[in-house]
Amino acid sequence: MSDLLQKAWIERDGAIVVTTVDSKGVPNSIYATCVELSDDKRIVIADNYFFKTKRNIEAKSKATILFITKEGKSYQVKGEVEYHTSGAMFDWMKGWNPTKHPGHGALVINTSEIYSGKEKLL
Ligand SMILES: Cc1cc2nc3c(=O)[nH]c(=O)nc-3n(C[C@H](O)[C@H](O)[C@H](O)COP(=O)(O)O)c2cc1C
Repeated sequence: MSDLLQKAWIERDGAIVVTTVDSKGVPNSIYATCVELSDDKRIVIADNYFFKTKRNIEAKSKATILFITKEGKSYQVKGEVEYHTSGAMFDWMKGWNPTKHPGHGALVINTSEIYSGKEKLL
């Protein structure tokens, strides 16, 4: 299944949408383009300008990632998150995040579910 995610990820078109929720269940969605798939197939997002997103993560929100491929197929990835401000994942993010952005932290999505439309792939 991680191969499927990798194949779809390579074909993605444009910014991904990252959704978190606050402690009252209010959802918040942002666009992100400073994103990569790690060797162990986890979606990693550079925190350059998170505000509500950061608060929601601190409040233990899970995250949903939504993206579309060039062929127009949508993928939704859900999972628990980790937020790294040091260590290997943080250093790796610093390597690809454009230096004009601050790169405060690396948001890592530990995939637990994948959907394409209503079809559950994982
Ligand atoms: C096209 C586009 C790409 C963006 N990419 C990122 C990104 O990779 N990382 C980031 O921290 N913010 C990025 N932003 C900013 C976020 O979408 C958002 O404005 C920021 O996280 C503050 O919103 P929040 O308070 O809901 O977290 C991007 C914005 C746009 C319009």
